Amino acid sequence: MARKLWAKRGLAALATGAVAVSLAACGGSGAGGGTDDGAGDGEAGGLVGVAMPTETYERWVADGDAVESGLEAAGYEVDLQFAGDDIPTQQQQIDAMINSGAEALIIASIDGTALGSQLEAAAASNIPVISYDRLIRDSENVDFYVTFDNYEVGVQQGTSLLTGLGVLDESGEPIADAGPFNIELFAGSPDDNNAGFFFEGAMSVLQPFIDDGTVVVPSGQTEFGTVAIQRWEQEGAQTRMEDLLTSTYSDGDAVVNGVLAPADVLSRGVITALQNSGYGEGDLTIPIVTGQDAEAASARLIREGVQYSTIFKDTRLLADQAVTAATAFLEGNEPEANDTETYDNGVQVVPSFLLPTVIVTADNLDAELIDSGYLTEEEVASGQVDE
Ligand code: GAL
Repeated sequence: MARKLWAKRGLAALATGAVAVSLAACGGSGAGGGTDDGAGDGEAGGLVGVAMPTETYERWVADGDAVESGLEAAGYEVDLQFAGDDIPTQQQQIDAMINSGAEALIIASIDGTALGSQLEAAAASNIPVISYDRLIRDSENVDFYVTFDNYEVGVQQGTSLLTGLGVLDESGEPIADAGPFNIELFAGSPDDNNAGFFFEGAMSVLQPFIDDGTVVVPSGQTEFGTVAIQRWEQEGAQTRMEDLLTSTYSDGDAVVNGVLAPADVLSRGVITALQNSGYGEGDLTIPIVTGQDAEAASARLIREGVQYSTIFKDTRLLADQAVTAATAFLEGNEPEANDTETYDNGVQVVPSFLLPTVIVTADNLDAELIDSGYLTEEEVASGQVDE
């Protein structure tokens, strides 16, 4: 189906050639400004709309910057927008991108089900849509998906929680007579398709140890719907952890040994609640807390022994894939997928390109994050990214 769409799009591109040419004239100084050398593609240099969810997370800012500079280097004009985690704002931004002649869209959605009419408008104008990191659901008008192996991220989170607790050894083998350990579970935003993948992946690792009693969830809260934090808000995680400490741990008998936290921002909310109630002081050691995204603020906490782990998703590689996919579409080709089975958006299985991820703890933080150039020593030391 998609192939037919892009065949049709070639005709539309001829009709919009004037727009493409004038935009190429503005944006043509990039290294790839001369990519318009394929026989008759005539499309390099067009406008690409990039919609990111929010600027309040380090990672999305890094993603936005990397996609923008990659596209510019390939000779495209870029309209990069952040939506402040507000759904109507993101809808309006995408509408505006379409109206101003975007030839491709790269979208990291806030609510994966809320962009139906924008995607219909994009399809009506033969604008290819690349779902960025988060799958856009319930639409046939999503053409490609670039992401990480989200289920594996969850597996890595569950594994690092068990390794930190001492249930598994370094090679992933169970340690005899470990536990019992008290853990609590958190999941991401229910409107983000990724959140379910992370949670399922983590539970695939944790459930056998819950079943045999090595690990206990004293609150009894183990359902995704109960443990999910709307919009991935740090305050939401802090409040839920505070409530758990009050409801389940206030009689002084039980202590929290570990927390499955699915993203660094939530980890920091959980850690704040724990510290405010005395964890990390005296005999009350800070629990093993997982994370995701290798944000500088959490890298610092990992180095200081406060947060145990994060999952490193190299957003530079994801941005590269998005640029590669956009370029393929704009040159009239299909991007290369490495997964055509996993990501059913409710209407279609969206061809995807999945990237690998790495568990980071204090042991490999410098090697993975600093030596790779992802964060600088100063950023890790200060817990803040440089502008
Ligand atoms: C997810 C994303 C994670 C994390 C989270 C909160 O969709 O895959 O890396 O950033 O959103 O923003």
